[in-house]
Amino acid sequence: MFYNTTKIMIFCIFVPLLKKTGIFIDNDMDFLTNEKLTIVGAGGMIGSNMAQSALMLGLTPNICLYDVYEPGVRGVAAEIDHCAFPGANVTWTTDPAVAYKDAKYILSSGGAPRKEGMTREDLLKGNCKIAEDFGEDVRKYCPDVKHIVVIFNPADLTGLVVLLHSGLKPEQVTTLAALDTTRLQEALAAEFGVLQYKVTDAYTYGGHGESMAVFASNAKIDGKPISEFNLSEEKWAAIRKTTVSGGSNIIKLRGRSSFQSPAYNAVKMIEAAMGGRKFVLPSGCYVNSPELGYEHVMMAMPSFIDADGVHFTKPVGTKKEMGDLTASYEHLCRMRDEIIELGIIPAIADWSKMNPNL
Ligand code: 2OP
Repeated sequence: MFYNTTKIMIFCIFVPLLKKTGIFIDNDMDFLTNEKLTIVGAGGMIGSNMAQSALMLGLTPNICLYDVYEPGVRGVAAEIDHCAFPGANVTWTTDPAVAYKDAKYILSSGGAPRKEGMTREDLLKGNCKIAEDFGEDVRKYCPDVKHIVVIFNPADLTGLVVLLHSGLKPEQVTTLAALDTTRLQEALAAEFGVLQYKVTDAYTYGGHGESMAVFASNAKIDGKPISEFNLSEEKWAAIRKTTVSGGSNIIKLRGRSSFQSPAYNAVKMIEAAMGGRKFVLPSGCYVNSPELGYEHVMMAMPSFIDADGVHFTKPVGTKKEMGDLTASYEHLCRMRDEIIELGIIPAIADWSKMNPNL
C-alpha cells in the first residue's frame, strides 16, 4: 500500500514538477494526438511553415510531407529534421498513396499561388483541377480522414471541389478565410492606434476575394463600440480597401503570396479539429441554407471549429453589410456555375450522386 502511494505521488506530482523546471530534457513531447497529419504542398513556403508550426504547437509527432516536387519536399524534411523536434516522426513522399495512407488530418496548400497583378480567381481553372484530383485521392486512399483544411485559391471554390470529390461530410472540410478578418483587425487597430488584439467583433464573411463582405459595425475598439468613434465614410472605405487588398499588399511587399499567416491560421484550424483550442475566426464552410438565403456554396461564415468539425451560425449585420454578403454570395454562385460549365463539378442536381452527404 505504502509503495503504491509513493509511486503515485512521484509520477503525479514530482515528475511533472521536475519537467516544469527543465532539470532534465524530456524527449517525449505532450502531443495533442498521435494520428497522422499529411501536409500537401509541403515543399512550398506555406507547406513548410505549416510543418514547422504543427510541430512547434505539438499537434502530432506523425507528419507526412507530400509534394510533387521532390527536391523541395526533401529539403523541407531535412530542415525539419535539423530542428530536432523531440519525439517527431516526420516522413516525406512524392507518392499520393503513401501520403494519404492512414491520414486522419490533411492541410493542403497544393495549388499554384498567385503572382503580382493576379486575382485569386485567375487561379480558378488550374487549381480547381488540382482540387478535383486531391478530392479523388482522399476518396481512394483515406475516406476515413477526419478533417481537411484547404488553403489554395480560390479557396471558396477549391474547397467545394474537394468536398464534392472526396465524399466527406460538410463539417469535415474547411477553407482558410481568417486572414481577411485579421487584416480587418489590423486596419482598424492602425486607424485607432491600438494593439491589434484590442480590436474585437470585427469580421469578414462571404468570399475570400475582392467581393468579401466586411462586417465591422459591431466592432469594439479596446472594449468601446466603434459607433462611438463616428468614423467618416471615407475612412470606412479606406479600411475596407486595405482589408480587401491585404493579400495583394503582401505580394507587393514580399514579392510573393503570403505564407506565414496562412500557414499559422491553417494549423490553428486543424489543431481545433484535433480537439485543441476552438478556432473562432471565420472559416470557409459549406452552406446550403434556404432559410438563410445561401445555397450550395462554400464561403466564410460566423463559425467555429472543434473536434466535431466546423459549425456556422447566422450572420448579423447592418442592411449594407447583409447586402454586401448577398452580393458576395452571388459572386461565388457565378464562379461555382463556371466550374460546373467546365465540367470540374457536376450540376447541383447531381451533387448527391457524387457526394451523398450533400
Ligand atoms: C491570402 O489572402 C494566400 O489567399 C491567401 O494571402
